[in-house]
Amino acid sequence: MPNYETITVEHRGKVAVLTINRPEKLNALNSKVHSEGVAALEELKKDENVRLLVITGSGEKSFIAGADISEFEGQTPVTQRNTFYEASLFNRIDQFPKPVIAMVNGFCLGGGNELALACDLRICSENARFSQPEINLGIMPGGGGTQRLTHLIGEGRSMEMILTGDMIDAATAEKIGLVNHVYPAADLEAETMKLAEKIAEKAPIALQLCKEAVKFASRSNLDEGLRREVDLFAICFSTEDKKEGVSAFLEKRKAEFKGC
Ligand code: COA
Repeated sequence: MPNYETITVEHRGKVAVLTINRPEKLNALNSKVHSEGVAALEELKKDENVRLLVITGSGEKSFIAGADISEFEGQTPVTQRNTFYEASLFNRIDQFPKPVIAMVNGFCLGGGNELALACDLRICSENARFSQPEINLGIMPGGGGTQRLTHLIGEGRSMEMILTGDMIDAATAEKIGLVNHVYPAADLEAETMKLAEKIAEKAPIALQLCKEAVKFASRSNLDEGLRREVDLFAICFSTEDKKEGVSAFLEKRKAEFKGC
């Protein structure tokens, strides 16, 4: 893994932790974070020892305080479209073939919320705050905020967050389904790692197919989704891990999944 300037990547057993490391700017996403994040995801995708990715922000105050506003001056419609178009950091997280958990340790704003939304699960600390504040800058979300947020929490609540730009607290985020769990800040890392390690023990191919099938649910109608699900389910029956999972159950032992 190369040395990055704006992110760090740490391997903890089967779990990799990618940290946005600009605490003095509350981990705002500049163009370097986008390009280094894309490069790191490419490496982590190929690394068979990595079964799950956790993404977080450095420091205790902020997960990600949105796009780096100081870079907005130099941006044009073309540069912005290139950043957020199909091969964007957010879309690559969405399509990453392993589960991704956002460990939200404070401000989760704008592009930070969009990044968290591209992850598969969101776990936050009690001090976390969420918003899509783009409207206050005279713009709108452009990294999936209007789409992924609406799919996750519904049109009414999404509309209110996007039209007002107001922050919501962690308890509200949990109530409306924006996050899966809330923990005291001191417990966030341990609780997130506990969940990450539990999922990382499962069969990797089945995890990948589950992720693909669940994401397809909000991108298709029910009939197409049911067809896609049964095709992916059938693929599971071609894997060694299916044999191992079934044998382990019948032999009353813990399965050791290998990812093949
Ligand atoms: N882009 C660039 N720099 C940012 C930033 C962002 N999105 N968010 C915070 N920073 C910088 C601040 O400019 C400040 O830098 P400085 O010390 O060099 O002046 C540093 O991070 C600390 O932020 P500060 O505003 O002093 O902290 P605070 O506790 O008073 O306020 C926030 C925290 C999150 C409420 C406030 O920083 C904020 O509103 N940020 C912008 C959020 C936003 O609109 N994001 C969406 C962009 S589309």
